[in-house]
Amino acid sequence: MITPVIMAGGNGSRLWPLSRSLYPKQFLRVTGEQSMLQQTVARVSDIEHTSPILICNEEHRFIAAEQMRLSNYEHGGIILEPVGRNTAPAIALAALQAINNAVEGEEPILLVLAADHRIENEEAFKDSVANALPFAESGKLVTFGIVPTAPETGYGYIKSGAQDGSAYYVSEFVEKPDLATAKEYLASESYYWNSGMFLFKASRYLEELELFSPEMLDVCRRAFAEPVRDLEFIRLDKAIFETCPDDSIDYAVMEKTTAAMVVPMDAGWSDVGSFAALWDVSEKDKNQNVINGDVITTGSTNNYIYSENKLVATVGVDNLVIVETKDAILVANKDKVQDVKNIVNELKKSG
Ligand code: GDD
Ligand code: MG
Repeated sequence: MITPVIMAGGNGSRLWPLSRSLYPKQFLRVTGEQSMLQQTVARVSDIEHTSPILICNEEHRFIAAEQMRLSNYEHGGIILEPVGRNTAPAIALAALQAINNAVEGEEPILLVLAADHRIENEEAFKDSVANALPFAESGKLVTFGIVPTAPETGYGYIKSGAQDGSAYYVSEFVEKPDLATAKEYLASESYYWNSGMFLFKASRYLEELELFSPEMLDVCRRAFAEPVRDLEFIRLDKAIFETCPDDSIDYAVMEKTTAAMVVPMDAGWSDVGSFAALWDVSEKDKNQNVINGDVITTGSTNNYIYSENKLVATVGVDNLVIVETKDAILVANKDKVQDVKNIVNELKKSG
């Protein structure tokens, strides 16, 4: 039986100052009436599954719990990480929880989802999951591949090998290549983007982690050995989890495993990771501006403009991102928005 695992522990720093450390983007309503987390939960509702497991930072427990409640959604526990150690340990903890939750004899299959993706075509998403299921059941680690449209350096790239029905063996998995390499991959037309969603048996993931990162698995097992149930929250041993190596599933497992397969997904997927991506998926005015809040433009084109408190007016500007919030204003070139995270790093350094 499928157990959805929703990873909601990122800080969305490339969407600063919209996304804040106390209120990161997965909890924001940036692409519709519901937050990205709520949209993720809704997306699995038609797939046969056991209660989803949510895993996020301790700091966000009340926002997460409230949003799950508002979605009217039963969940299989909200695991709280005392510190972020990236997705590889987060998924290990969720795997342990899923195994704990499973009824005897049932082997949980994790559908690992990021809490901050947008998917236009839910039917196509469900079809891909259905196509992936037999492979996951047979012990493969299945990822979902998106046909790339640009030499993005923030994604993983998957080279597909031999075909087996609706899936392909993965002949190479390269996480976040440099720009020159990404351009090569794009031009070769033989790579998919890694969507960042996965389907595999909980036990198979733990086995692969044991193989490639035994120390990480050991820390996760010990931190989770006596999980403390606090209402709907599941708490870990903080002192132990703090010693966990920090790594993503992509580097720690997917680049190394020989059991990976890729199932193509053509579902209007987008990682709303940057303001450029947000501009891409949002409704635009006749001058291709995305406008939120109190904004007036004249002779301005292709901008993303967001105002929270003040009137924002633009004259004759093109391709900008302008975000006004209570205590910060961002003005950025829309082609350089990957670097917004540098500002956040600067801010962190200066406390
Ligand atoms: N619980 C938890 N703990 N969740 C986390 C943590 C953590 O420490 N770190 C990140 N997450 C969550 C984020 O909230 C997001 O939903 C998801 O895990 C993926 O993390 P990102 O930080 O957004 O990863 P990425 O976008 O750089 O790269 C991944 O996704 C790409 C597609 O969007 C990789 O899987 C790439 O290969 C992939 O192309
Ligand atoms: Mg992401």
